[in-house]
Amino acid sequence: MSYQFLLFEVTDRLATITVNRPDKLNALNDATIAELGRAIDDALARDDVAGVLLTGAGRAFVAGADIAELESQSPLEAQRRARAGQAIFRRFETSPKPTVAAINGFALGGGCELAMACHVRLASEKAKLGQPEVKLGIVPGYGGTQRLPRLVGRGAALKLLLTGEMIDAAEAHRLGLVDQVTAPEALLDTARALLQTMIANAPLALAGCIEAVDRGLAVTLEEGCTIESDFFGLLSSTADMQEGMRAFLEKRPPAFTGH
Ligand code: COA
Repeated sequence: MSYQFLLFEVTDRLATITVNRPDKLNALNDATIAELGRAIDDALARDDVAGVLLTGAGRAFVAGADIAELESQSPLEAQRRARAGQAIFRRFETSPKPTVAAINGFALGGGCELAMACHVRLASEKAKLGQPEVKLGIVPGYGGTQRLPRLVGRGAALKLLLTGEMIDAAEAHRLGLVDQVTAPEALLDTARALLQTMIANAPLALAGCIEAVDRGLAVTLEEGCTIESDFFGLLSSTADMQEGMRAFLEKRPPAFTGH
């Protein structure tokens, strides 16, 4: 599959998707968003891919939606654009294979929203994050008003949303917006090592955790616990559950097959 604005490579069972418009700080025009949709679908369909790393080329992760495209949008076009982007970002969030954002630089607006749609966020010490939409007279359109408070709480989210100011990686880590901060040169290796640790585990168990967390966050604790016990039951039917437990008792590493 070929891409104009992305790089897509697979090594060691990891797909690395790199947003590659560095002259525009990887701003998300509609074509790039559509390519992100194709790339995540490709990664999910491939048997040789067990996890997904998302990053940006050059000095930005993604500096937002492409303001040049937004400038002339009609209200209905804007709504359609937001819904199309939201649906594609949601595919990263609900991916049964782990998705990790390696935030190498600016993650602003749609960039911060794209990172928030991934399961885990790592940031370089050089990263800057924010939701500057209010400075442009709009609200975030790719899930920022919804995912940010879920990650950092209402007050911290509204502080970021209402000021539109950027924060550095250390502050983003303190708030829980990113999960780990690394030296810039260590970012990709750290993200790959994290993903390797994840994908060494049973694939159906990974998918179960992701779906239980995702669905559980939308319902009451009681309903969420029911979702969890259903997965706990379902996973007990798998060959990988047998293998994982047998391997533990036999003091050897498990050989999971995803069945
Ligand atoms: N949309 C379209 N183009 C963008 C962009 C965006 N979101 N962010 C950066 N660019 C472009 C700039 O227009 C510039 O293009 P040019 O060289 O053709 O003029 C290029 O990327 C480099 O950006 P520049 O502003 O010159 O870099 P900088 O280091 O001075 O500033 C930022 C970096 C990130 C602070 C600044 O680019 C910025 O504020 N970007 C917009 C962030 C934003 O509001 N995002 C939310 C959009 S909804």
